[in-house]
Amino acid sequence: MEEQDNKRRIIHPASGNLWSRRDFVHLAGWGGFLTTLGITSLGTLRFMFPRVLFEPPTTFKAGFPDEYPMGMVSTKYIKDYRVWIIREPNGFYALSGKCTHLGCTPNWLDAEQKFKCPCHGSGFMKSGINFEGPAPRPLERVKIALAEDGQLLIDFGKIFAFEKGQWEDPEAFLKA
Ligand code: FES
Repeated sequence: MEEQDNKRRIIHPASGNLWSRRDFVHLAGWGGFLTTLGITSLGTLRFMFPRVLFEPPTTFKAGFPDEYPMGMVSTKYIKDYRVWIIREPNGFYALSGKCTHLGCTPNWLDAEQKFKCPCHGSGFMKSGINFEGPAPRPLERVKIALAEDGQLLIDFGKIFAFEKGQWEDPEAFLKA
């Protein structure tokens, strides 16, 4: 009888002891429990440390106000930040370089004093107001302020839409 029972047992390779079927069931139970515990703990850890998407900053310093000639549209930051900076007698504003039709970047045509979109021909006045082509509304303005060191501080993450009356916002225009 004992001999027959021993046939059902397996010898553990390291210890040399006999393992019964019950030992295996027991071991499998613990294995399942520990696996579940591990997965649950990982889920909890992931909840405690969520994946954060770090966005690049939307602000940049654009030099000192007296670097901007009166009435000129500065194209200096259009390539890197898609923003034009314009100085008028009463202050500064910054326009987003994103056409309000389908988002292409218009060109500033100094001789014609207008922004012209190369994609479908929309035209915008220096103020950003649309006057030709399919663009349904003016260009957007972006936040402009003075930094502590006296430089212009542009935040293209904050936009102001003319049709919503937002160009009246103090952050949409920097008074001289
Ligand atoms: S994207 Fe500018 S006119 Fe269409």
